[in-house]
Amino acid sequence: MGPSGSGKSTLLNILGAMDIPTSGTVIVNEINIANLPERKLSGYRKNTVGFIFQNFYLLPNVDVIGNVLIPLTPYGIKDEDRTRAQEILEIVGLGNRTHTKVRKLSGGESQRVAIARALINDPKIILADEPTGNLDSETGKSIIELLIKLAEKGKTLIIVTHDPRVAGLISEHPLGQNIWIKDGKLSKDPTYDMYCWDINSNASDP
Ligand SMILES: Nc1ncnc2c1ncn2[C@@H]1O[C@H](COP(=O)(O)OP(=O)(O)OP(=O)(O)O)[C@@H](O)[C@H]1O
Ligand SMILES: [Mg+2]
Repeated sequence: MGPSGSGKSTLLNILGAMDIPTSGTVIVNEINIANLPERKLSGYRKNTVGFIFQNFYLLPNVDVIGNVLIPLTPYGIKDEDRTRAQEILEIVGLGNRTHTKVRKLSGGESQRVAIARALINDPKIILADEPTGNLDSETGKSIIELLIKLAEKGKTLIIVTHDPRVAGLISEHPLGQNIWIKDGKLSKDPTYDMYCWDINSNASDP
């Protein structure tokens, strides 16, 4: 959590190798992704991270399964990919909407498609930038509960949110914690005063 302009999206984009830092290192799974060549970066994006956005970024005139399969399109879609997409759609509760055009879905259903799309590569890390920002509170809660289930199954989940109820659901969970950001600096203290460190420093407690 953090104020507008504090660097939340920038942090996620850098973790997801969508953006490259001008200085510093970004260590993910013991590899510094800040200076990887583009060829290896696309492998990292394909295999390690899944992105979920506030605005879903779905193709409205393509059906649900087509949207889920988009990240695999450059590599050619195989039958096993379709089977896997169908399995993931069952997990996110859209097993019976496979061939519905996305423009016909509700906001909550659309965000579930976006979550399924983020899962198609079986990423270790899920980065979610305000995944409930465009949803009513009940739908938002069900989306966060779905994301928490994925974390319980072993995914690393990083959620950016403005919503204290979302932050509350995370902090109440034994696997979860809240971290605040202000002017690019991370802190576990919402008041920032007592305990604050630079994200580029070598602080032992990240
Ligand atoms: N690629 C970039 N290069 C330089 N500055 C950037 C870049 N991307 C974003 N910024 C700047 O970094 C700051 C943080 O932006 P960011 O989008 O990460 O904020 P945010 O915390 O996600 O805000 P919001 O809550 O409004 O989404 C802003 O001042 C923005 O203009
Ligand atoms: Mg942002």
